[in-house]
Amino acid sequence: MPGTELFGAEERKEVNDVMETGIFFRYNHDAQRKGIWKAKEFEEEVKKVTGAQYAHAVSSGSTAVATALAAAGIGTGDEVIVPPFTYVASVEAVLFVGAKPVFAEIDESLCLSAEGIKKVLTPKTKGICLVHMCGGMANMDEIMPIVQEHNLVLVEDAGQAFGASFKGIKVGLFGKTGCYSFDFFKIATAGEGGVLVMNDEATYKLADSYSDHGHDHIGNNRGMEEHPIVGFNYRISEIHAAIGKVQTARVPEIVQRNNKNKKLLVELLSKTEGISFATLADPEGDSATFLNMFLPDTTTAKAVVDEFNKAGITGFNYWFTNMYHFINQWHHVKGLKTASALPVEVLGAPQDYNNLDLPKSQEVIGRLISFGIRCTWTEEEIQALAKNISACVEKVLVPVN
Ligand SMILES: Cc1ncc(COP(=O)(O)O)c(C=O)c1O
Repeated sequence: MPGTELFGAEERKEVNDVMETGIFFRYNHDAQRKGIWKAKEFEEEVKKVTGAQYAHAVSSGSTAVATALAAAGIGTGDEVIVPPFTYVASVEAVLFVGAKPVFAEIDESLCLSAEGIKKVLTPKTKGICLVHMCGGMANMDEIMPIVQEHNLVLVEDAGQAFGASFKGIKVGLFGKTGCYSFDFFKIATAGEGGVLVMNDEATYKLADSYSDHGHDHIGNNRGMEEHPIVGFNYRISEIHAAIGKVQTARVPEIVQRNNKNKKLLVELLSKTEGISFATLADPEGDSATFLNMFLPDTTTAKAVVDEFNKAGITGFNYWFTNMYHFINQWHHVKGLKTASALPVEVLGAPQDYNNLDLPKSQEVIGRLISFGIRCTWTEEEIQALAKNISACVEKVLVPVN
């Protein structure tokens, strides 16, 4: 959790600025707020780090994805290609804007593959919710031609990849809209928060209104504002934005430190037979929040996880069995269970969600174990971790009789 690793006086000062004005609301109250606009400053910082022309902060990464989809023009009945490996929020967001998720295969990049997308494309496909997983990036050289050829709406969920890029362009900026999460577990945290980025003003304005009950935010009298559209409350508070602003400014340094630590860990683990790593379409663009290692197969990976637990090794994720990140555990999603009916249930699902055929994704996630990289690790700590990981893998792959 690099964001929370570097938490300090600057965050406290920014929060204190807000406490002193007592204005926690991001809009209006111009006179009382004494020039303190933390949400705006957070957005400016995200623009600086990403190079986006527009940025809009909201209450979470989840509401950022929902807003990103809606502002990109995705709505009721639209078919949207999604990965089976993501935080479940990406799929929930598609369902909550009324659209129909269509699951496609990922590959060793841990993201949707061009091949997987092509397999499920139909004339009904409206868009893709492309998720850049585990600090890395999808192969944009292969995916963008499909987007262009089929005139698809691309929305990027870079919830786990703030600071990552592909060939010099930050992930999140390839699509109509892109978004990042600033929850407690991310490279930069606001406590809770999310930011959408885009390069056109009309989409930005739509996102700004949609995430605040449709308010047009013109003038300084909230009660008299027009509402060009129906929206909802996805607003971020000034307190959260104050923290997000400082944390965002730390990201370039965190990415650099993460990469240095990951490089050493990879170098050490490469010596152990049976360990390989997830592919990076652009190794230079890695945000390096995770070391994503593959074992030869699912059975071996599960046995290695058991060894890690026995050895007291922590800080890793085995996504194949965790409850949030892989489709195998999303019984509620597959069953379309919610408090009331989801539009997809009424309109008809494009796939039989309980009988999806995604062998490549099963195989890839089955043998994947990810370690969170800490930017504050010392070289000794990395050496010790690598030694412990290797010992566990060797125990499984070369059992002692
Ligand atoms: C890829 C991805 N998208 C969206 C989200 C949702 O973000 P939040 O927790 O800020 O709502 C997450 C959170 O883990 C995520 O990993």
